[in-house]
Amino acid sequence: SRSDALVFFGATGDLAYKKIFPALQSMIQRDGLDLPIICIAHSGWTLEQLRQRAHDSLAHAAKAQGTTLDEATFAKLAAKLQYVDGDYNDPATFTLLKQALGEAQRPLHYLAIPPALFGVVARGLKQAGCADEARIVVEKPFGRDLASARKLNATLHEVFPEPSIFRIDHYLGKEPVQNLLYFRFANTVFEPVWNHHYVDSVQITMAEQFGVDGRGGFYESVGAIRDVLQNHLLQVTSLLAMDAPVGNDPASLNAEKLRLFRAMRPLEPADVVRGQFTGYRDVDGVAPDSDVETFVALRLYIDTWRWAGVPFYIRAGKNLPITTTEVMVDMKTPPMSIFDDIRAPESNYFRFRLSPEVVIAEGARVKRPGEAMRGNPVELVARHDTTPEKSPYERLLGDAIRGDNSLFTSDECVEAAWAVVDRVLNHESPVALYEPGTWGPAAAADVVASAEGWHDPQAETSEPC
Ligand code: BG6
Repeated sequence: SRSDALVFFGATGDLAYKKIFPALQSMIQRDGLDLPIICIAHSGWTLEQLRQRAHDSLAHAAKAQGTTLDEATFAKLAAKLQYVDGDYNDPATFTLLKQALGEAQRPLHYLAIPPALFGVVARGLKQAGCADEARIVVEKPFGRDLASARKLNATLHEVFPEPSIFRIDHYLGKEPVQNLLYFRFANTVFEPVWNHHYVDSVQITMAEQFGVDGRGGFYESVGAIRDVLQNHLLQVTSLLAMDAPVGNDPASLNAEKLRLFRAMRPLEPADVVRGQFTGYRDVDGVAPDSDVETFVALRLYIDTWRWAGVPFYIRAGKNLPITTTEVMVDMKTPPMSIFDDIRAPESNYFRFRLSPEVVIAEGARVKRPGEAMRGNPVELVARHDTTPEKSPYERLLGDAIRGDNSLFTSDECVEAAWAVVDRVLNHESPVALYEPGTWGPAAAADVVASAEGWHDPQAETSEPC
């Protein structure tokens, strides 16, 4: 059954400003979103200030898209907003919330607050009678390591049964990420080659051209491994590498993902290169001697019959040359060379560009006209030029309101993903500096065993025939 109120903890924060208000506005435009929206924070704000903040957020989002804010829709959103200010440790805050909920019986509580507060809020909700029949959405990172994630799961389970807990990873709400699964299993031609017999290695790059301005304090408490590897990038890896689920229902999907996460060989410090861009230590909220990584490059193995021996090279970082997320599945070279122009780097590959543009491409060679049996590399390309209908947050919020948890992470999966990174969280490997605008520290190149190194997402991929 549908949730009948949305309660939003952390409403004065960065995530609300950047993602949630725009998602709510869009939901109102699309289908009305007929729910009271109760915002909670401990900021000493008034409802008027909160509305102003929502207005600023939407004006900012509209400007980024080259449009202006639609004041009529904003008025509808503003009318639904309520605001409760209070300390989450004070039962009075939850009494106020209970009053604000009025007739609502099945609220959806969205926790965009630090994980250290999840337990306090869950218990506060229970004591005030706001947890029965309710659902809860929690933001990433879910804990700081395996032990704290386990504890967090136990704490949430004291109040909410697992089907009522929605652990968000907005990458799972992205169309091109969902397409990894669809593309693999809606076709027959890829699955026969999707294994160690044909795949040489896999590369996943998540590059961001920007730094951590405005969120130094948060970033300092996580670093790249906790911020994007444990969640977004391991999720992408799981969709790319998992076995076929028996169906498209949440239980079947989770079962296969879980098998895959559990087969990932836990990373050791020697598998990981950590980097930090110069200037990071001057960012507001960052310690002057910080050794938190803003870049990570690593080699991961998946110990299954399918993937034995195939390295998965993954890298992510801030202040890199461009903003893009791309997956390259490099295929083995032909078993012998009949044509003398074939070189290893030009072997076949599958390229999934997940952002900013959405592309699926297959690299192949095609003969050049002329007497010689010589060719050029080309790409067979499927391109999605349209922007997705819904932002990931709009999609996932809508799913949670309807109670559909297909695109959320289960307790077991989140723990299994932490188990993969657990041994590399404590800065055992040194952090090497890199200049902003470069591809991370020089040592990142050593992670990739083959001579070609990391694929450059800016490289020209086809030559004219
Ligand atoms: C967030 C991270 O989860 O994902 C950010 O905290 C990162 O550091 C962001 O920039 C990237 O998301 P997207 O959707 O812009 O690729």
